[in-house]
Amino acid sequence: MHIHRLEKIWLAFGMAMLAVFLLVIGVSAFAMGMAPPTSHAHDHKIDPAQVKTTAPFDKPGLRQTGDHEYEAVMTAFTFGYSPNRMEVPAGSTVHFTITSSDVVHGFEIPGTNVNMMILPGEINHATYTFTKPGEYLVLCNEYCGAAHEWMKTVIVVK
Ligand code: CUA
Repeated sequence: MHIHRLEKIWLAFGMAMLAVFLLVIGVSAFAMGMAPPTSHAHDHKIDPAQVKTTAPFDKPGLRQTGDHEYEAVMTAFTFGYSPNRMEVPAGSTVHFTITSSDVVHGFEIPGTNVNMMILPGEINHATYTFTKPGEYLVLCNEYCGAAHEWMKTVIVVK
């Protein structure tokens, strides 16, 4: 009868070890699931599906930040940009902050050195000083679908 008792003890011990093992696996899986998807020092990616409700992209537009200094918060989408027209005085430095709410787009201002690829949810920056008055087109140079060629916005420099 002693042997039977010992077997029971070992069986209980084995079950206890299995329980501990499963608990450890479960807890570490849960901890990994809780970790942020990207661990960059500065988060430069947002959920593309949430662009329209994520600040500052929920309110695209031009904002004066200093003397001849502006911030342009913009979004790219099939097939356009928001805002679809901006106006700044000549000599203005514009800091662009832009992301895409759907697919990959381009952001090129012909005649300047501004030329970016806009990835969905990725936050891109560019700065340009518009010294000469005129109408500057912003064009998409990444094929994004049927109306790709018509995707543009304009910056009027007065
Ligand atoms: Cu957007 Cu091509």
